[in-house]
Amino acid sequence: MSAYDLIVIGAGPGGYVAAIRAAQLGMKVACVEGRGSLGGTCLNVGCIPSKALLTSSGKYAELSHLSAHGISAGEVSLDLGALMARKDKIVGDLTKGIAFLFKKNGVDHIEGWASIPAPGQVQVGEDSYTAKNILIATGSEPATLPGVEIDEVDVLSSTGALALEAAPEHLVVIGAGVIGLELGQVWSRLGSKVTVVEYLDRILPGIDGEIAKLSQRALSKRGLKFQLGRALKTIEKGENGLTLTLDRVGKDKEEQIQTDKVLVAIGRRPVTKGLGLEKLGVTVTARGFIEVGGDFQTSVPGIYAIGDCVPGPMLAHKAEEDGIACVEMLAGEAGHVDYNLVPGVVYTDPEVASVGATEEALKEAGTEYICGNFTFMANSRARASGETDGAVKVLADPAGKLLGAHICGAHAGDLIAELVLAMAKGATVAEVAAACHAHPSMAEAVKEACLDAMGRAIHA
Ligand code: NAI
Repeated sequence: MSAYDLIVIGAGPGGYVAAIRAAQLGMKVACVEGRGSLGGTCLNVGCIPSKALLTSSGKYAELSHLSAHGISAGEVSLDLGALMARKDKIVGDLTKGIAFLFKKNGVDHIEGWASIPAPGQVQVGEDSYTAKNILIATGSEPATLPGVEIDEVDVLSSTGALALEAAPEHLVVIGAGVIGLELGQVWSRLGSKVTVVEYLDRILPGIDGEIAKLSQRALSKRGLKFQLGRALKTIEKGENGLTLTLDRVGKDKEEQIQTDKVLVAIGRRPVTKGLGLEKLGVTVTARGFIEVGGDFQTSVPGIYAIGDCVPGPMLAHKAEEDGIACVEMLAGEAGHVDYNLVPGVVYTDPEVASVGATEEALKEAGTEYICGNFTFMANSRARASGETDGAVKVLADPAGKLLGAHICGAHAGDLIAELVLAMAKGATVAEVAAACHAHPSMAEAVKEACLDAMGRAIHA
């Protein structure tokens, strides 16, 4: 029986960061993880391996588009095994890096699946531990549809789609959300015909509509096929592959598509099974998320929860923010997360990045706003590098205070950081535009979009 100030359950970006920060604040901390390697979904089967595959497949795709630069690459070949091995090495190195950080900060790593038999107690296999506080950071897992069984051979979740041994001839992706588009683009670049089936009449729900349209146009240009307004009903396995039956939403009509593999990317659901929440009396929502207060405490005193298993955006960096704020408050410091300022990034080519309110949300709330747009076609750096697809869009109140920013374009995930900081500091479009932006740079499009909101864009 070991006694801790804090036991964190789950070593994903939420849990491991919270454990390290708590140790920095002087707590005696342990972090329990059952997966066999640290880093959670993000490092093992999510953000990091997908970015490794996006980078490798992007380089491969680029080789066939170099003629405009006067470059001919000759015959290009692909060693998918080596490409996957690179991804696996990156994942291995980073997950081992967390074990090193745990040692350096004095966080005990307990291996195994944890349950909470009572407040202040954590059970891992035969071993019991006590803790003044327990933090649940158990994350999420791919959701599926009734009657659709993910076998990770033909019917894949993101986990299976990150580890295919060959590019399928035809891959159907169900869901035009973040996972569907990122992994769809990976396999499209590596040689598959990719069809993205989406229930809604648009891609990327939650992203500003105009920016999502730009993304769809650019992804279509790069080879992705979209079938919108269609819901997956059933998948049947036959000798010649899979037959998918799709419902035409609102049309009382069905369609079928044949494919080799299907990736089901229709969202994720919280993981709380096996923790013993019901017996403890921890309140969960109808969709299974753990309810928490502003201090991340659940309905049971001394038990806290953060990240994907509580309501809110399911993003690694949001989980980290939750974790840091939670343990800082436990240590008596002020902790706060502004969920309006959590950026979202889709790492396709072109990237999509956004923060704050969308134009649709402002309209729905009846908020008065001004809007500025600037296309990368008019940005000289984008022209020089041949990355002209997309635009920057900023939304502000009539006095110019930024309310939201949305970008589709190369490096959007990096460009958004300026606008997140601007919004965090309550800056106006005039203040962002007044800052000197290097020339030539993609960031000049941010400045120009802010100028455009005031009717003053120079290059529009
Ligand atoms: P998502 O919620 O982003 O998108 C799912 C899509 O599937 C939606 O557009 C939905 O309308 C559609 N859909 C649902 N049921 C359907 C059906 N029966 N037929 C056709 N379409 C259907 O979910 P996704 O892409 O699975 O991602 C899960 C979570 O992981 C998200 O919260 C996302 O933010 C996070 N994530 C973040 C990444 C990043 O930050 N770059 C990368 C990957 C995942």
